[in-house]
Amino acid sequence: MALPRLTIDFDIPVSRAGTASLKYGARTTYYGTNDVVPLWVADMDFSAPEVVTQALVKRATHTIYGYTDYPESLYTSMQNWFASRHDWAIDRNSIILCPGVVPSLYAAITALTALGDQVIVQPPVYHPFFSAVTDTGRSLVENRLVLENGRYRMDLAHLASCAEAGAKVLVLCSPHNPVGRVWSRTELEALLAVARQYGLTIISDDIHADLIFPDQAHTPLATLTDDVTVITAVSPSKTFNIPGLGLSALVVNDSAQRQAIEDVFKNWHVSNMNPFSICGFEAAYNEGEAWLDELMVYLADTRLAVQHYLEEALPEVQLVESEGTYLLWLDCRGLGMGDTDLHRFLIEQAKIALSPGTLFGQASGSGFMRLNMAAPRAVILAALTSISIAFRALP
Ligand SMILES: Cc1ncc(COP(=O)(O)O)c(C=O)c1O
Repeated sequence: MALPRLTIDFDIPVSRAGTASLKYGARTTYYGTNDVVPLWVADMDFSAPEVVTQALVKRATHTIYGYTDYPESLYTSMQNWFASRHDWAIDRNSIILCPGVVPSLYAAITALTALGDQVIVQPPVYHPFFSAVTDTGRSLVENRLVLENGRYRMDLAHLASCAEAGAKVLVLCSPHNPVGRVWSRTELEALLAVARQYGLTIISDDIHADLIFPDQAHTPLATLTDDVTVITAVSPSKTFNIPGLGLSALVVNDSAQRQAIEDVFKNWHVSNMNPFSICGFEAAYNEGEAWLDELMVYLADTRLAVQHYLEEALPEVQLVESEGTYLLWLDCRGLGMGDTDLHRFLIEQAKIALSPGTLFGQASGSGFMRLNMAAPRAVILAALTSISIAFRALP
């Protein structure tokens, strides 16, 4: 595939001052100080595509911001995106628009399982997966990923034993935050074989589906089966750096399940018919593709720069091979610190805010850190240099 020549300069810093950014503003709450470079919350320090900004500005100039319905063109933009980008023909009737992916996971679990039912997650994994199970009164079952020769895989034998012991639903992260795996078609087919055998329903969180490095391909699990129940959560929010707009979708083929999920949202009195979310979502899917292709080239180069830096200057930290997402999973066990000391060292000595691995799984994340590399490359390399200098300076 020919890579696009970059026309967007992702190296230019964009100040987030005055925007009440969580990533910047909540450093004191989470890290005890503002004096850390924030490489934690999963949004990007890059401007969203200009086409999105233009659409928002255009909408803002109409001065009535009243109750808004989801226009048909919104559904079409999403269907066209998934058809052309992921070879996935989504039926218009299977789409439920939702106020964010995490709320949609909570709603799907609530609708499809009963109190006390066992729901499986695969740590280390995005931490709200745990709370989506426990907050809804379901029973959390862990099927840990296995790290083999620097690469994670799913443990399908253990998954089968979880299902045999009564688990009803698996929440899959595809691609997987934080380990950066883009599950291959073969892996997903093997997963479906287990699900088919034990009647497992799979809720697949595909929010990172578009953030795939140029040499990789994402396969939506739902495109591989007609007989296993797969519910997919998608959103342009991570892809185009518009998560603050808070709009996503679930794709649910079964009409009874769709109704059950819609009823949950109705009972919660949740609505997200925000005119700005709608127009940002639509503009991104309709016109953001060229921007995304450039973004992925830039991120792939940053990933490579991180890998080279670590190999040469800080081999005690290893980059776990990453195939997608802008989140890098760093194996810090070579630094020889416990989790608490590692966290404190990064904040106090290196002055960097990373996400502690244990957030994603107490045991499976121990010794790891997640680095959000979606910032100008110079910022990321300076952060690694700070870690390296601070580590060499330790007594
Ligand atoms: C796997 C995954 N799902 C969901 C979300 C958040 O989705 P939302 O902001 O739409 O609730 C994130 C954010 O990092 C994520 O990584």
